[in-house]
Amino acid sequence: MKITIIGAGNVGGTTAMRLAEYALGDIMLIDIAPGLAKGKALDLEDSRALSKCSFNIQGSENIRDLKDSDIIVVTAGLARKPGMTREDLAKKNASILKDICLEIKNSAGSAIVVIVTNPLDLMTYYALKVTNFEPAQLFGMGVSLDAARFANLVAKELNISPLDVEAAVMGIHGEGMLPMPAFSTIKGVPLVEFFQPDKIADLVRRTVGRGAEIVSLLGSGSAYFAPSAAIASIVKAIAKDEKRTVNVSAYLNGEYGIKDACLGVPVRLGKGGIEEVIELELDKQDLEELARSAAIVKKQYHGL
Ligand code: NAI
Ligand code: 2OP
Repeated sequence: MKITIIGAGNVGGTTAMRLAEYALGDIMLIDIAPGLAKGKALDLEDSRALSKCSFNIQGSENIRDLKDSDIIVVTAGLARKPGMTREDLAKKNASILKDICLEIKNSAGSAIVVIVTNPLDLMTYYALKVTNFEPAQLFGMGVSLDAARFANLVAKELNISPLDVEAAVMGIHGEGMLPMPAFSTIKGVPLVEFFQPDKIADLVRRTVGRGAEIVSLLGSGSAYFAPSAAIASIVKAIAKDEKRTVNVSAYLNGEYGIKDACLGVPVRLGKGGIEEVIELELDKQDLEELARSAAIVKKQYHGL
């Protein structure tokens, strides 16, 4: 299996490290910056004897080296600076994505593609329009990261293991995201049994603001350790045909009352990419919030 990561910056580089250690296949790391991908690939290769993982990794500056990939992760593009929203990145990142998507279409037409570049739902929708790929084949990583953040905050609040927290976040990977306390549990027991409503509201608020909190502390760039963990778990679900339920930014064609937009929803992931979009019974308020987010994504698309 050939797994290509486009963009060898913070997210791409740490994703390469995680995938290498999962030993899922041969890794191709591509970045337009001279030497960056090759340098990181050599550095990772040097770790093999220590980590006892015998993976193959190559670095390249040439986008054509994505040829015949089975899975492609797109992390190329600008990251947020303090004070910027994910949406501020839209125009520049769309122009970067366009050339990459056309090359994917030409040279790896049957690859499963995971978009990571922000603003995530807009870039996923845009990439689908450029490639004309099947919605099962191309989707975005965003809300599974937000769910991991929600789970971590809950675990810390209760002083329990994050492994016992099943947290759900849906909708846009942005300020309008929808952490879903009603669908979040601790060992099967609903979150609402553990917290007063005002504490849940506080955990939701901190989940929504977590990315910006990290950006403002880093001073330059945005989060990458948790993002690369979220990407690696999606790639593993595809590569190993795990049939796992994961929330990703998927193209909706009537599900949740939304037509022709990409938003974070639960899907079943396997070797064919999205094998099923799972429809939960949401209340009216959540459905309205999803509809609002879908309208925002479409409006941004027409503004590109
Ligand atoms: P970074 O700046 O460290 O790396 C981006 C890399 O993309 C750079 O090395 C740059 O040279 C490369 N690049 C730019 N144009 C390219 C092209 N045409 N071909 C190949 N490589 C190209 O940024 P970082 O932190 O890795 O973030 C990357 C993107 O991922 C950003 O848009 C960021 O907002 C997004 N992101 C999304 C997350 C999500 O949950 N969806 C989480 C974290 C980051
Ligand atoms: C995050 O949520 C920047 O989207 C990225 O950290």
